[in-house]
Amino acid sequence: MTDFVCTANPGFAPYAMDELRRRFPGLEVSGLAPGETFLIAIGEQEREATLKELRRKEPVFLRHLFPVEAESEATGDPEATAERMRTFAATQEERLRGAKVAIQVRKEQNSPFPFSSAEGRDAIVPVVSELGAEVVAREADWIVSIYASKKKLYMGCSKPRDNLSDWPGGAVRFRKDDSLISRAAFKLLEAERTFNLPLDRFSNALDLGAAPGGWTSVLLERGLKVTAVDPAEMDPSLVVHPNLRHIRRNAADVSFAPGTFDLFVCDMSWDPHHTSRIVSELAPSITAGGSGIITLKLMYRKPLQTIDDLMEEYGRFFDVRQVKQLFHNREEVTIWVKRK
Ligand SMILES: C[S@@+](CC[C@H](N)C(=O)[O-])C[C@H]1O[C@@H](n2cnc3c(N)ncnc32)[C@H](O)[C@@H]1O
Repeated sequence: MTDFVCTANPGFAPYAMDELRRRFPGLEVSGLAPGETFLIAIGEQEREATLKELRRKEPVFLRHLFPVEAESEATGDPEATAERMRTFAATQEERLRGAKVAIQVRKEQNSPFPFSSAEGRDAIVPVVSELGAEVVAREADWIVSIYASKKKLYMGCSKPRDNLSDWPGGAVRFRKDDSLISRAAFKLLEAERTFNLPLDRFSNALDLGAAPGGWTSVLLERGLKVTAVDPAEMDPSLVVHPNLRHIRRNAADVSFAPGTFDLFVCDMSWDPHHTSRIVSELAPSITAGGSGIITLKLMYRKPLQTIDDLMEEYGRFFDVRQVKQLFHNREEVTIWVKRK
């Protein structure tokens, strides 16, 4: 058996666990940091098939996982902790020699682990470099992962694709630049990456619930024409943009000619069933095969059931390609659909 440290958004680990139990009946699951991290145990014989299945259909709430290949008691002693991490790294020579290697160190809030993530990484870099590896932040061949819980230090080394995300714990970071209109823009940027859906492939977008314009600004930067629908005002920096048309109305009260748009995005923070009715009404204005990215607010008590119900609603007009709780989602998930 190998244990894997699994991470979900804060508060959503119970749903990630439920989802995995549903997919893999009999899976052994146990909690670590409440609400956020947990362990699953996978038998050696099922390991490859399970990881392949997780990649084929990514779970909604599981953001990241890595295999535990060594563990020890957590301690606040810097020398002893650094020594344990170095010893583990040194055992990885066969994998790491000549490879690009990322080192990702995370700790639970109440862990005695005596380092910050950067300090923990710096403690291992010399050993990894001595093995003939190049230490990188992105696009690594291997990732050395360290997770310090309240009680234990978990260490593992894996291929990025087997972690579901090559960001530490799946926490995707974007650089904040001064022109950022709203942090909501990060959700669309993360969706673009997660769904592997380059937005510049599209030409004419409909943005429902667009104000103040974070998502619209991303679409305009990618060179799309955007029709933004929102009764609220758009950011003044966008209003003059030649490729933007702002319709200051409720999305339930607008209509467009069939096949007007090849992309629609929707980030109305509203009851998700209302949103699905509005989107369904507007479905004819999306070209066949056109894509949609929609955030669904999880405002009901049973998120997995809510998602199942919503998938049925969207399924009338769309193929649901992926449902994912992104790192930048709070009490919501993001879906990618294609118009039938
Ligand atoms: C979370 S904000 C959207 C943020 C936006 N994606 C951004 O990046 O700036 C939600 C917006 O949805 C709008 N909204 C809510 N219900 C709507 C409806 N029925 N029709 C149009 N807009 C709506 C609100 O006015 C609000 O501006």
